[in-house]
Amino acid sequence: MKIAILYSSRTGFSKQYAEMLQQKVGGELFDLGKMRKLNQVMGADVLVYIASIMGGRMREFKFIDKNIYDLERPRKIFVGVGLTPPEEQVYLGFKQTNCPFGFENKIKFFLLRGGMRYSELRGVDKLLMKNILKNLSKKEERSPVEEEMYQAIINGADYVNEENLEPIVQEILHPTPFEEVKVEEPKIAEEEKGEDQDA
Ligand SMILES: Cc1cc2nc3c(=O)[nH]c(=O)nc-3n(C[C@H](O)[C@H](O)[C@H](O)COP(=O)(O)O)c2cc1C
Repeated sequence: MKIAILYSSRTGFSKQYAEMLQQKVGGELFDLGKMRKLNQVMGADVLVYIASIMGGRMREFKFIDKNIYDLERPRKIFVGVGLTPPEEQVYLGFKQTNCPFGFENKIKFFLLRGGMRYSELRGVDKLLMKNILKNLSKKEERSPVEEEMYQAIINGADYVNEENLEPIVQEILHPTPFEEVKVEEPKIAEEEKGEDQDA
């Protein structure tokens, strides 16, 4: 099985996951920042796209979104690496924001926790994080999630763990079917039904 692992990483967490994944399942690693087209990976059986999430979006999403339509063959797995704990609502939002149009039932999505290396950020990324830090430090009371984020920015955080990759390894080796999207018939209230018949 030919596996292509495409990654984009700002401070190293996504790259680390990509390398760990390669060690587990084999395949070839590609730095998305150095790719101009996706023809190199056209013949792959599985394509894994691992990238950090910034402002809800996976890095290099624009490039993937533009070129994915040329990639019929490989099974597609998108892995977002973020700081936020990957709870249900976060996962649903991530999936919605990072799904190219028409691929709702063609991509498997996973969320991993990366970490924070504030001192390694540059440019706009640094500026945005600095702003978040400023706002968080001004707050009199921080929610547990905010407090965790605040501490992560100040002290750094690293949640990378090999075990987190297990569901992705399983999906690569033993693909599961896509959930059927059920379209429920709209329920018409009894009175409305009556109105329809009268008309
Ligand atoms: C400007 C900026 C925006 C971010 N936005 C999000 C976000 O929307 N959701 C999230 O979970 N993490 C967010 N993060 C945290 C990163 O996704 C996290 O640090 C990630 O582990 C970085 O991975 P990398 O080292 O591979 O780039 C953001 C970080 C920065 C610097």
